[in-house]
Amino acid sequence: MTEIGFIDKVNWMNKIYSILHDLENYLNFQKTLGVRGVINPREKISDQQKQAEAPKETLMELLRKEMGNCTRCKLHPTRKNLVFGTGDLYSELVFVGEAPGADEDIQGEPFVGKAGMLLTKIIQSMGYDRKEVYIANIIKCRPPNNRNPETDEIQQCEPFLIKQLSILKPKVICALGTFAAQTLLKTQERISLLRGKFHSYQGIKVMPTYHPAYLLRNPSEKRSVWEDVKLVMKELGKKIN
Ligand code: URA
Repeated sequence: MTEIGFIDKVNWMNKIYSILHDLENYLNFQKTLGVRGVINPREKISDQQKQAEAPKETLMELLRKEMGNCTRCKLHPTRKNLVFGTGDLYSELVFVGEAPGADEDIQGEPFVGKAGMLLTKIIQSMGYDRKEVYIANIIKCRPPNNRNPETDEIQQCEPFLIKQLSILKPKVICALGTFAAQTLLKTQERISLLRGKFHSYQGIKVMPTYHPAYLLRNPSEKRSVWEDVKLVMKELGKKIN
């Protein structure tokens, strides 16, 4: 066996030192990118580690920032506030409406006008506080004079709802009215035929029901909505009185 000379040893030490130095720089760089650790491939990765994700608050904040002071569609010049969505990010139940009205446009919060007051009552009748569910709309900006949302506006805005729902991952989505139900379920079927049974959106149960604004004009349909929300409550294990 040949003995390694002193010079060789020093050269090797220098090489190893230089590799370690590079590795340290690389790891410091990864740290600045937000990497919090490295996984030893020989260690078994626990289910908890596999599921580790950024908190929903961070993801939703990033999404809100991505939307910014949105000018993607023709609704932006007339809106006062973009109405992004509000509520408990960890809720098992999400309500999706159509688009902000005048009150929502002023306050920047969904369902705060007359229809919103009725929705709040419906939520309470289901055994939730309004703050315990999440509420959003298909369209984030008010269409002038409360006209119906147009196809190009839905196309521009829908990706943000899709991302919101992928962050929220609720057990049930309650789609309020024709636009919400038809947009989520990719159908042209009438709301009267869609309501009353569960459908599926990305593996999440969807219950379409009448929009609260429609109920204000047609109070006799409140009975149908109560039937729909009872199915939602049963699905979520809520007590029905
Ligand atoms: N109608 C909706 O669909 N959404 C609101 O936020 C308010 C009224």
